[in-house]
Amino acid sequence: MLPTRLRKNKNIRNLVRETELTMNDVIYPLFVVDGTNIKTEIPSMKGQYHFSLDRLPEEIAELRDLGIRFVILFGVPDDKDELATPAFDRDGIIQKAVRVVKDTDPDMYVITDLCLCEYKSDGHCCFFNTDGTIDRKRSLDTLSRTAISQVEAGADMVAPSDMMDGHIASLREALDDAGYESIPIMGYSAKFASAFYGPFREAANSAPAFGDRRAYQMDPANADEALKEVELDIEEGADIVMVKPAMPYLDIIAKAKELSYLPMAAYQVSGEFAMLRGAVDAGLMDERALYEALICIKRAGATIIITYFAKDLPELIRKYQS
Ligand code: PBG
Repeated sequence: MLPTRLRKNKNIRNLVRETELTMNDVIYPLFVVDGTNIKTEIPSMKGQYHFSLDRLPEEIAELRDLGIRFVILFGVPDDKDELATPAFDRDGIIQKAVRVVKDTDPDMYVITDLCLCEYKSDGHCCFFNTDGTIDRKRSLDTLSRTAISQVEAGADMVAPSDMMDGHIASLREALDDAGYESIPIMGYSAKFASAFYGPFREAANSAPAFGDRRAYQMDPANADEALKEVELDIEEGADIVMVKPAMPYLDIIAKAKELSYLPMAAYQVSGEFAMLRGAVDAGLMDERALYEALICIKRAGATIIITYFAKDLPELIRKYQS
């Protein structure tokens, strides 16, 4: 414990504090749907909404007023198909959403989630061969095509969340070939097969129709396997690496941080959000728990946090970080 003389008032506590949260640390996830005049609360994620394109500008303006500078977009189209066509359609939901955000606020930094599960009728992140194994080439080609369509629409960064082997290298090459050398890639490098994604799958309508994602996501019991994945993404050219979920995996964040000097991100996922929000709203925990969860993720080594609490952060900082 710090000596009492370093704890005796607010000023000295602020001076010796090792970690602080700022609005530059957080990325806010947004779910965009087809249709018009939709701002509907996602039942599994209180306070988070599905937006149709026409209702997006008002939300972007609100985010800007709150000081949020970074968003990650998820597209939730009405129609999915076996080829995942809505993922790479020039006028797909996510491509249109990127254009709307950029038209509303050109300074808003737009990251696109890059995966197929939201666009593919079976809800899986990849294509399969007839024998049930993953069709890597077809999956990677479709992901690259999707990424290019997102960047053409104006995305500033792409975040592949698919977990295919070799996905970062293949994506880097495709982006470079298309002339997008300056677009960074944030890899969902250590992505665990987690029950904490439950509320998101309702939000993104992306629960797999058969099986689960254990064929391509990692066993929560394993750290070495996760670190290996992080290492591979770094070797393949990721600019930012990510660990997901965040709070139950702080050890992975801390260890991954030691592997390189790349910026580290952590995704505080839907289940973490629902759990904390629910407990605080039920009066079981003080709201300070929200701040604590975020600061601990940063302390563990993530300087970037994708969080559904981004809109609460200005208030949390004001109350608990002074
Ligand atoms: C896949 C993706 C998922 C999340 C982000 N990207 C779901 C999954 O892997 O099943 C989860 C995010 C969350 O739970 O908040 N495109």
